[in-house]
Amino acid sequence: MKKSILIMALIICTTAFSQTDVATEKRIQGLIKKMTLKEKVSLLHGNSKFYVSEIKRLGIPEWALSDGPHGVRAEMNRDNWNYAGRTDDAVTCFPPGTAMAATWNLDLATKRGYVLGEEARFRKKDVLLGPGINIIRSPLCGRNFEYLSEDPYLISQFAVSYIKALQSKDVAASVKHYAANNQEDNRFSIDVTMSDRALHEIYLPGFKAAVMDGHVLTVMAAYNKFRGEFCTENILLGRTILRDSYKFDGVLMSDWNAVHSTENAALAGLDLEMGTEKTNYNDWFFADPLIKSVEQGRLKESLVNEKVANILRVMIKTKVLDPETREKGNINTKEHQQVAYQSAVESIVLLKNENNVLPLQMNAVKSVAIIGDNATRKHCSGGLSSEIKPLYEITPLEAITTKFGKQLQINYAQGYNKQSSPGEGSNKGQLNTDFVDWKLIDEAVEQAKKSDVAIIFAGLNHDFDSESFDRVHMRLPYGQETLIHEVAKVNPKTIVVIIAGSPLELSGIQSRVPSIVWAWYGGMEAGNAVVDVLSGKEFPSGKLPITLPISINQMPDHALGNYPGRNLKVNYEEDIFVGYRWFDTKGIESLYPFGFGLSYTNFNIANITADKKEFNQNEVITVKCAIKNSGKSDGAEVVQLYASQTLSSVLRPKKELKAFQKVFLKAGEEKTVELKVNVKDLAFYDEKTSSWKVESGEFVLHLGTSVKDIVGSVSVRVN
Ligand code: BGC
Repeated sequence: MKKSILIMALIICTTAFSQTDVATEKRIQGLIKKMTLKEKVSLLHGNSKFYVSEIKRLGIPEWALSDGPHGVRAEMNRDNWNYAGRTDDAVTCFPPGTAMAATWNLDLATKRGYVLGEEARFRKKDVLLGPGINIIRSPLCGRNFEYLSEDPYLISQFAVSYIKALQSKDVAASVKHYAANNQEDNRFSIDVTMSDRALHEIYLPGFKAAVMDGHVLTVMAAYNKFRGEFCTENILLGRTILRDSYKFDGVLMSDWNAVHSTENAALAGLDLEMGTEKTNYNDWFFADPLIKSVEQGRLKESLVNEKVANILRVMIKTKVLDPETREKGNINTKEHQQVAYQSAVESIVLLKNENNVLPLQMNAVKSVAIIGDNATRKHCSGGLSSEIKPLYEITPLEAITTKFGKQLQINYAQGYNKQSSPGEGSNKGQLNTDFVDWKLIDEAVEQAKKSDVAIIFAGLNHDFDSESFDRVHMRLPYGQETLIHEVAKVNPKTIVVIIAGSPLELSGIQSRVPSIVWAWYGGMEAGNAVVDVLSGKEFPSGKLPITLPISINQMPDHALGNYPGRNLKVNYEEDIFVGYRWFDTKGIESLYPFGFGLSYTNFNIANITADKKEFNQNEVITVKCAIKNSGKSDGAEVVQLYASQTLSSVLRPKKELKAFQKVFLKAGEEKTVELKVNVKDLAFYDEKTSSWKVESGEFVLHLGTSVKDIVGSVSVRVN
């Protein structure tokens, strides 16, 4: 009886869905029939920096796009890159991509998506240009801070949660930058090549998941070339993979000014040209030249219709054409700010904590030295296209002063000096990075000497972590290592807090201080979050979504000399061995491994079992374990499942992340954790058959708290 009700419900649901689809397609065709060629083409290119033209007589409003991944960007002028100077465009600012991934908490990605959706709607935006999900390949890529991880599975999970939530608020996401946009140096011209295996196993899974599981409505084609063709005119990427294989029926838009041709781009599946340079929008490739191509018979009008249909489909799905039923949005609510705060708290990774220096016992501490430019620097409004005008941004110094200023002597010293400011396309901010300012160091040492505890807020800023150029090295800049050494000499309780969005070499300070905390860029609540974790109001629960090497030469792209390429070409010779896959498989010791992060308490993981011993290709493996918080304070651990194939016909990484779960446990509490892996996700990409292949045989599923800290394993057989 129950079963038949279920089947009936399914039938009704399926019919309802297909009826909606049929109705949508009918509506699209109806609108297209009423359009002139000129009107159609007006929908395929920007009419200003972030807008696409309206067609008033058909009830199609102007389409509003906005950056960016971790907040809704401030209003810009329509025809240049200056800000419009509005006073109503300050918003909630989240910690950027690497920080989001460091939470390993998908609920927070979902909540972020809701907040961004509501704020985008309030600001009357239709498309939010994010998430940016390129693989962190080189530690030097300027946009690493915006991206999420070196691991495609972690990226996919976050992208899907974020996109679904954002789009549930009637705002289209735009997953970017498709594809292989892994460096900013030469980003407009670099020609990337790699094996099919690397493409499908490492660089595409995030995009595939965004389309097939997240149902992302728009995709942004990257600036660079892939195998000789610009991404905006690349048949393999735009047609074969995106449309034919992933069945994408949304809008493929260009990155800003990334289109180089009319016909090639049109044929390769690009729908929308967005841009920056020329202000005569009718001259753009997808404007008058496209009309001419059709009129002169070089392109068929049906191709234009296909593109218009894609645009209208996204508009209909996000209710652009039905404004009465559309989400109205909300901005800067306490709830939004609370999600930003929680996202910052949970991103914080405790790397080292000798003698339990942390959490600070605030009742016993009488004085604290707060050192470093990053103690007072605001970061939300940096980094170029992802810059946000936050409603407010709390720095660490402000937070500690507000929270403990009455009970604590706070001794501030700047410690090091940011040298200059970069401009777009220039890395001028990195000119003087090794400058050691001894006067500032001496002042810091004096403050540290007279304080019970010294906290140094070190790391980077958006002179380094930025769109449009890469970092010139991976060291701590501005003499920070010297500063840390000198302060640690006079104060044994020196805590280093790293503010940065991409990997740094920390081996020069690692053994000099008892405690290191990685706090990323924390968005508008950065200071509150880090001070609450240091003082024990909150506990650290973040895990590295990247590997921290001992030195840059250990990184695969640098070890093999494949960054940033030669003569504007780069071949990803390390192949699938990116990030921890390289370190783990080759047995190279990193400083801190992927997935690593300590807590203020301890966890025991035991009783690891799989639900069966043998599986066929369509089944799901369930791995269970018991986890107990055996310490005295509350905490959270991320249980990570890595898979390896015992014997394979191709070289495979020693381990690959296949599932994870963040578990919150009160002191003494115990829980059972269940992780699921689809057998089909144990596949590798077989270049001989151009398809995914799961070979029969033994697979080992390892459970751990980082890729290096494996607690136990179970073996299963796949038939
Ligand atoms: C960036 C994109 C961004 C666009 C619009 C480009 O330079 O690469 O990520 O969305 O500008 O600001």
